[in-house]
Amino acid sequence: MPDKPALSPLDLLRPTIRAMPAYTPGEQIADLTKLNTNEGAHPPSPRVMATLAAIADESLRLYPDPVSRKLRSAAAARFGVAAQQVLAGNGSDDCLTILYRAFLDPGDRVACPWPTYGLYDTLASLQGATLVRVPFLADGRRLRLPPELARQRAKLIILANPNNPTSTLVPVAELRALCEDARDAVVVVDEAYVDFALAGGVEASMLPFLDAHPNLVVLRTLSKSYSLAGARLGLLFAAAPLVEALIKVKDSYNVNVISQALGVAALEDRAYYDRCVRQTVAERARLEVALAQLGLTFPEPTGNFLFVEFGDRAQQIYEALKRDGLLVRWWAAPELRTKLRLTVGKPAENDRLISALRKQLSGL
Ligand SMILES: Cc1ncc(COP(=O)(O)O)c(C=O)c1O
Repeated sequence: MPDKPALSPLDLLRPTIRAMPAYTPGEQIADLTKLNTNEGAHPPSPRVMATLAAIADESLRLYPDPVSRKLRSAAAARFGVAAQQVLAGNGSDDCLTILYRAFLDPGDRVACPWPTYGLYDTLASLQGATLVRVPFLADGRRLRLPPELARQRAKLIILANPNNPTSTLVPVAELRALCEDARDAVVVVDEAYVDFALAGGVEASMLPFLDAHPNLVVLRTLSKSYSLAGARLGLLFAAAPLVEALIKVKDSYNVNVISQALGVAALEDRAYYDRCVRQTVAERARLEVALAQLGLTFPEPTGNFLFVEFGDRAQQIYEALKRDGLLVRWWAAPELRTKLRLTVGKPAENDRLISALRKQLSGL
């Protein structure tokens, strides 16, 4: 008989895993209208659905292409880069995981302007790395990059542009200056929402400057503007030698055969993409006017969502909207708790949101 009780498997976890809080994704409640996780409002392209229907059983029997060659070629053609400058991921979250695993040892530093996408923090904890949060600077209805961001002795500097949850955009010129100022770091620009800024006529993407900055990595996702969040497709763009190194880090078959095929179809259907993104930007403009008429304030939005100030009533309004069947995003964190993030939905969903908010704000 052993004289001491066996350790629980939980005691064998790495201390960092035991200590860290879990990342909390947005709620997925099927019966509610989801305006809480910034998915695209439209269905995927008909070409995507036709591709899905035509997936051959033989292609499911076999492993997928480990390096997603056709998808990377389609992305290269669509975005004007070389296929060797593209890595495909199981969502851009997978691209982020690959970057963190590739660059961050325990004790290393990763810096980001704050507030931003919570996963940047979770992934740092998983690596035993330190996330240095440098507050954005308020500038009217915009947020500016803090100049100290480049001076944090960080191996990775990461920012979402447009930023989540604020929907604000940092000008490309400032990001190019950051790449220059932080030449000893890798600068990751997560452009999950950039399509909604580009459709608003703004020069918002760093992709045209990939060759100019060897320390630049750009991320895109097909979860938002291509309405493929369920398929999990992300793209990472970087100098070819860096992509080659990152391929060593990813899971062998990180993008499944169905998603690879759907991604190609989505990227090739340019006309459908343009229509969806234009409609979302028009709906965003309509929401901006309606919310302002209700006396609400929010930073200038450039993504497919708005970050609206509700003061002490934010949580209460979040709960009331939920009772009305509308799910939006509220966070308990002190710096976010007076705000709600509202995803731009279909016209009828946005109408419902506006009238539900009107009801709440007028105390009906
Ligand atoms: C800034 C940002 N980056 C990345 C992601 C993750 O996207 P994906 O679905 O491609 O993993 C999100 C999702 O909300 C996001 O807001």
